[in-house]
Amino acid sequence: MAEKEKQNIAVLLEEKRVFNPPEDLVRNSNVKKWMDEHGIKSYEELLEKAKDIEWFWAEVAKDVVEWYEPYKKVLEWNPPYAEWFVGAKYNIVHDALDKHMETDVKDKVAYIFEGEPGDTKQLTYHDLYVEVNKLANALKELGIKKGDRVGIYLPMIPELPIAMLACAKIGAIHSVVFSGFSALALRDRINDCEAKAVITCDSFYRRGNKVALKKQADEALEDAPSVEHCIVYRRTGDEVPWNEGRDLWWHDIVKDQPEECETEKMDANDPLYFLYTSGTTGKPKGIIHRHGGYAVGIATTLKWVFDLKKNDVWWCAADVGWVTGHSYIVYAPLILGVTSVIYEGAPNYPEPDRWWEIIEKYKVSVLYTSPTSIRLFMRYGEEWVNKHNLSSLRLLGSVGEPINPEAWIWYHKNIGKEKCPIMDTWWQTETGHFLITPLPITPLKPGSATKPFPGIQADVFDENGKSITNAGGNLVILKPWPGMLKGLYKAPERYKETYWSKFKDVYLAGDVARKDEDGYFWIQGRADDVLNVSGHRIGNSEVESALVSHPKVAEAAVVGKPHELKGEAIVAFVALKSGVEPSEELKKELREHVGVQMGKIARPDEIWFVNDLPKTRSGKIMRRVIRAKALGQDVGDTSTLANPEAVEEISKAV
Ligand code: WTA
Repeated sequence: MAEKEKQNIAVLLEEKRVFNPPEDLVRNSNVKKWMDEHGIKSYEELLEKAKDIEWFWAEVAKDVVEWYEPYKKVLEWNPPYAEWFVGAKYNIVHDALDKHMETDVKDKVAYIFEGEPGDTKQLTYHDLYVEVNKLANALKELGIKKGDRVGIYLPMIPELPIAMLACAKIGAIHSVVFSGFSALALRDRINDCEAKAVITCDSFYRRGNKVALKKQADEALEDAPSVEHCIVYRRTGDEVPWNEGRDLWWHDIVKDQPEECETEKMDANDPLYFLYTSGTTGKPKGIIHRHGGYAVGIATTLKWVFDLKKNDVWWCAADVGWVTGHSYIVYAPLILGVTSVIYEGAPNYPEPDRWWEIIEKYKVSVLYTSPTSIRLFMRYGEEWVNKHNLSSLRLLGSVGEPINPEAWIWYHKNIGKEKCPIMDTWWQTETGHFLITPLPITPLKPGSATKPFPGIQADVFDENGKSITNAGGNLVILKPWPGMLKGLYKAPERYKETYWSKFKDVYLAGDVARKDEDGYFWIQGRADDVLNVSGHRIGNSEVESALVSHPKVAEAAVVGKPHELKGEAIVAFVALKSGVEPSEELKKELREHVGVQMGKIARPDEIWFVNDLPKTRSGKIMRRVIRAKALGQDVGDTSTLANPEAVEEISKAV
């Protein structure tokens, strides 16, 4: 094990500090109120009672969703498939928008938007409702129907949630592709789901520059036969290439649309969206989420964990292109009727205090971000933070990767001024909502995501499926949960194999974790060949395929290496085709090539040229051996290697 990794684990093992929640926070919390109403006296009793998962989720559902027609059964569990609220008629947009038109939420601000150049816009729930209805009507007019897929390739502007909600409203399935992904990544995803339309914009602002998104979308659409229309929102007013007949301006198609649009009454288990995420093979997985159970899961977790009330200003500083944004910028906050902030640009633009300025300006009361961002701000130093009044903050959150205790303490002290508890929420694209997370009533240990949310049963198993304490093992979830994925689009075998084959009827998360003597979970990272770079999942094999698609590359192996800021850095070992000379220039070219294939976030931090890569006799590249060698660790058993000399190549390279 690398020295650094050893140190990290040692720190985690030694971390004994406990932070008790402030008394007034506990007393006034949403969860405490619910416990009082249900005669539950303690956190332990709550967890115990919620072990009756059908009772628990049906009970909390009453507070957050309104069905068109009631369900007949809370849960139908045919492993590995779960259906929640079976038989209910429902549409998540009813709870996110329609129901608010009958209450005073109607005129409340739903989104405060701040563009990177400083332009701002506020949309009330009613404004949002109208915008969504108009676009939904326009989509219908273009022939998009229930069950059709729509690709959405938009930056962090309010039109992204509007586009998602418009699809959901008419029963179409949205598949959002992160705007930082490349044209080719977009093409793969829209082709996999056979999108009928794509929604994008001219360009957007990022770090003082403009990113020409439409141009990238055009490149993707050169080979996307299912796409009939490309709808373009005008964000910057830049000139864009135009394909007559296929391309349509957003403002043109919504202009004459009625402000009302009937919401499609769906089955609670009908798909709401697909979201592609990285797995262990080169092809991303299309995770399927549904309307009903998902709504109950996301709204309940947000209401309890971040304790959102009428007057809160919520800022989930993730990108809507990832699941965090889907669940906690778009659907859950809208269901709860709260006000959210959406910021378009880079966190350190024009200066490293942009976020603190935004918090002060809009009196943000709850901030949810990633350890990578926290470490970035740590590096800039407290002086940038101290220029601003952050006294509006009352709770903080973290997601996406393990938070090291040092970053936790810095966040707690400098941003939360030692009065805001930090909710370290563990979950995945597949889970839809938080599964292991503190509540405002939970004593916190820095670096631990604490305990499973009520109604969730998690454990750590050794390789034989035995529950273990105080040792690293496989993180597993024992019972289904309401936001559980429906499956993988067009890949049922992969679904079973990835999550359900290691232990019978138990969900394998793919993370390594440790459970301590108090039942607190400490997540240590991915167990499989998936990298976690700045909280974003990137498959090793996806980067390898991207490298190998370069004409000068014969073979490639990609491993992760601990990185101070990003959590993990991408390190690539590349064997070139014969006759190709290695050079620094070529390294640059390969980095750019990966950027074009996948997107900037997937570009390797380090590239090393080797003659050969360690392989098994069946020709499989042994990443485990390469990783160990690259990190200076013990390589373990190499008896299955066909070419032991290649191992030495790796050590010579690094
Ligand atoms: C990691 C993001 C430690 C984990 C919501 C998981 C975390 C993967 C945490 C999912 C956390 C997420 N502590 N690790 N609080 N939250 N992870 O699908 O490895 O983009 O499996 O979902 O991120 O990443 P995904």
